[in-house]
Amino acid sequence: MSEMSEEASPPEGIEENSSQITYTSYRDETQLGPIMALIDKELSEPYSIFTYRYFITLWPHLCFMAFHGSECVGTIVCKMGQHRSTFRGYIAMLVVIKPYRGKGIATELVTRCLQVMRDSGCDEVTLEAEVTNKGALALYGNLGFVRAKRLHRYYLNGVDAYRLKLLFPRPQDSASLQSNPQLWQGATHYPAELKEEAEEERSVSFLRELPENSVSFGDVKGLESPAEIVFHLSL
Ligand SMILES: CC(C)(COP(=O)(O)OP(=O)(O)OC[C@H]1O[C@@H](n2cnc3c(N)ncnc32)[C@H](O)[C@@H]1OP(=O)(O)O)[C@@H](O)C(=O)NCCC(=O)NCCS
Repeated sequence: MSEMSEEASPPEGIEENSSQITYTSYRDETQLGPIMALIDKELSEPYSIFTYRYFITLWPHLCFMAFHGSECVGTIVCKMGQHRSTFRGYIAMLVVIKPYRGKGIATELVTRCLQVMRDSGCDEVTLEAEVTNKGALALYGNLGFVRAKRLHRYYLNGVDAYRLKLLFPRPQDSASLQSNPQLWQGATHYPAELKEEAEEERSVSFLRELPENSVSFGDVKGLESPAEIVFHLSL
């Protein structure tokens, strides 16, 4: 997802009480217009009606809207499906309009989608965000996403993207890693085209298996991203 570069204006006339916001999943085609208008206004990447229909018609239960009264103030659009050997959720679009930002609305929208994805059996969730989108990177970082890959000039505006990834922990992984901590290093026979992905998966898995209080993103001075933390730990 690629955001508009314009600065956010400060919230105006919105009370701090976030209980005024209600959340619903996508209901019918009458909601398509408001969703498209909101996303087209806030994201720089242009999407056609076919793209919206693809996501929302096939995965209506992975599209949520946030309302203040009758006004739609935020939305999220996702999908899920098989990707190689994993069942993967994908967050395609996420937007909260400027006056309503900083109130936890995006966090709530993402959390609802993650819940559906997890309950549906997803192993992992991915998305792309501009490397310059500090807000989105912080938001997803707080939710446990890590930077898996940098994609050169990914967006039409020429900006690079980070592919962010969240792995849902699987009970059998924790058990295996406890009995054999070297296990994650064992796979060396991946075909070349899968090697990068495999490296990525192992790094991310390793990072997520660390005890909660050992190293956290914010604790390590001079390291900019979780990917760098993985690099240092792997030496
Ligand atoms: C990114 C966006 C969806 C965040 O929506 P939001 O409702 O304001 O997000 P939340 O209130 O849930 O923020 C949760 C956390 O994210 C981080 N965050 C969000 N916006 C931030 C910003 N502008 N700068 C730094 N951190 C930010 C903070 O850590 C925040 O937690 P805190 O308020 O406790 O500090 C919103 O700014 C937006 O629509 N931007 C334009 C579209 C876009 O960039 N979409 C994402 C594309 S990947």
